[in-house]
Amino acid sequence: MEIKKVGVVGCGLMGRGIAEVSARAGHDVVVSEINQELLDKGLAAINASLTTAVGRGKATEADKAAALGRIKGTIETGNFKDCDLVVEAAVENLELKKKVFADLDKICPEHAILASNSSCLSILDMAMMTKKPDKVLGMHFFNPVPVMRGLELVKTILTSDETLKAADSFGKSIGKTVFTAQDAPGFITNRLFIPFALDAIRLLEAGFATKEDIDQAIVLGLNHPMGPLTLSDYVGLDTTYFIAEAMYEEFKDPRYAPPPLLKKMVTAGQFGRKSGKGFYDYK
Ligand SMILES: NC(=O)c1ccc[n+]([C@@H]2O[C@H](COP(=O)([O-])OP(=O)(O)OC[C@H]3O[C@@H](n4cnc5c(N)ncnc54)[C@H](O)[C@@H]3O)[C@@H](O)[C@H]2O)c1
Repeated sequence: MEIKKVGVVGCGLMGRGIAEVSARAGHDVVVSEINQELLDKGLAAINASLTTAVGRGKATEADKAAALGRIKGTIETGNFKDCDLVVEAAVENLELKKKVFADLDKICPEHAILASNSSCLSILDMAMMTKKPDKVLGMHFFNPVPVMRGLELVKTILTSDETLKAADSFGKSIGKTVFTAQDAPGFITNRLFIPFALDAIRLLEAGFATKEDIDQAIVLGLNHPMGPLTLSDYVGLDTTYFIAEAMYEEFKDPRYAPPPLLKKMVTAGQFGRKSGKGFYDYK
């Protein structure tokens, strides 16, 4: 099945990126928000991101105009009625996502593939809200979507091979390298990153090394592009905490239990880059 028209639920940080890369690759896009103000904000951010791409020589003014011309913003979910693929990128809350999937199941055409960009929630729980769980999978994009090259597909025990194949082709059509994981909290990326980040936080908490030394050891010693504390600040410490809790809840493995320092920082509103303070200061 060829994917031509793409729906995106949510025009926040991730949804706007998914809408942008899809439109730049030539797909028609419908992107929704819960109100006009948030929709306008998201569409303005897409415009700004395309302007940056032009400034960096990655796109021409004509590419920008063509991409913007392919994106339609809406606050009516009914506008997903002729989409071949809808990617849900609303906030990380299972009850909300389940409702979105139940609604999409009623609105979208029979052949449509429904995907969630969730970082750690059960894709199967969302799929079971639909009448065609074989057409549901996870499509875990990375932030910032226009820059990051990978796309993690998440296959539930009910996702069909045909669905996976169509999602794989779509991922390649938007310039991503695709890899596939099973539907379990953390998928591949966070299953490996979260315990690594939590161990770095535990070293800091124990006074074993400074935050700068921990990050530098990993950047200069292991050749990672950034250290685990810098990356946790980037991901968001609230998000890191949320994913760790979900993984601990599922596997009951103490490696995934959030250390007290992380919990305290989240309680104090120190979420990393987005709040201006995390392990480092961004003000
Ligand atoms: N931020 C990241 O680095 C990152 C990375 C990978 C995956 N994710 C996942 O992507 C999803 C979105 O994250 P985000 O960072 O873009 O969050 P965000 O808060 O920036 O954006 C979410 C948007 O969804 C909108 N929304 C909520 N309910 C909606 C509905 N019913 N219909 C339409 N819009 C709705 C909200 O108004 C908000 O603007 C989450 O599931 C998150 O776990 C985030």
